[in-house]
Amino acid sequence: MEELRQKYLTEVAGAADESALETVRLAAIGKKGEVSLKMRELGRMTPEERQVAGPALNALKDEITSAIAARKQALGDAALEERLRGEWLDVTLPGRSRGAAMGTIHPVSQVWEEVTAIFADMGFAVAEGPQIETDFYNFDALNIPSHHPARGEMDTFYMHRAEGDNRPPHVLRTHTSPVQIRTMQEQGAPIRIIAPGRVYRADYDQTHTPMFHQVEGLALDKSISMANLKWVLEEFFTAYFGTTVKTRFRASHFPFTEPSAEVDIQCSWEDGQVRVGEGDGWLEVLGSGMVHPSVLKAGGIDPDQWQGFAFGMGIDRIAMLKYGIPDLRAFFDSDLRWLRHYGFSPLAVPTLHGGV
Ligand code: PHE
Repeated sequence: MEELRQKYLTEVAGAADESALETVRLAAIGKKGEVSLKMRELGRMTPEERQVAGPALNALKDEITSAIAARKQALGDAALEERLRGEWLDVTLPGRSRGAAMGTIHPVSQVWEEVTAIFADMGFAVAEGPQIETDFYNFDALNIPSHHPARGEMDTFYMHRAEGDNRPPHVLRTHTSPVQIRTMQEQGAPIRIIAPGRVYRADYDQTHTPMFHQVEGLALDKSISMANLKWVLEEFFTAYFGTTVKTRFRASHFPFTEPSAEVDIQCSWEDGQVRVGEGDGWLEVLGSGMVHPSVLKAGGIDPDQWQGFAFGMGIDRIAMLKYGIPDLRAFFDSDLRWLRHYGFSPLAVPTLHGGV
């Protein structure tokens, strides 16, 4: 009995985990365990023998049982200790900075928001249209018929139809002017909207990329005139550049406006640097005019009752001017060094009260 006692108490003490402990328990006091088998032998003993062996075996069984319980408790405590050590966390450590990995807002997005904020303050809503247009919206409705030279001049990207489909092809819109027509059809007059967006022309050199950004403006009412156009644009440029900017209207021609004007802003050219709002140089920034009666008609609006102005301005162009960015093509290279240098903080959302 002393041998059994020594053997099992040693094994219990040496059990490395709960499953080893269970194996020891079964071997000692399980149904077919050594101690249990010994207890069955009690039946074959004389009453005198049994009186000695019985209590001794019971005591042994109890001793092993409580040794197992104690060991189990110790193992559990050790496991918990181990976990607490492993999962230890210093909540007083300073947080890890994510500044280095944070992206920036692209100058085009920033200027887009600035333009929107300034025109919104003058009561212009934002309108949108698809980048893939029908040639009706991109050309015909804007008074540019099939034979018109402007179609060729626009370097249009055509979306070819499937073989045997003879409908005219869709185009990547060459300007934001189709949004004029869509807005007229959807809202009717009066209208006061801007339409910022991407436009496409098959052109690539230092000052042209095949995709660029324009913002269209359209204001229709009973008595809107070129004078209103001039005030709105001067108000816009002054807010945008943060300094009073003179404009110069030059007579021009667009099929969708009559009369038409190209608008220059005042600037100086000194040692390769352009400065807006000073000097006696001029820089062309947009096309504009009074919406042509045929265009109003195409938009479902009665030209005998309504009139107004429209303009189209290059967003990339005015972004370069304001933020001193020399090369247009770099806008779309996704060069991280360029983006970090010219990009804006995502937290610096342009607002008029914050200053654009
Ligand atoms: N759509 C013209 C262009 O892309 C600009 C423009 C818009 C001119 C509206 C007049 C009126 O060049």
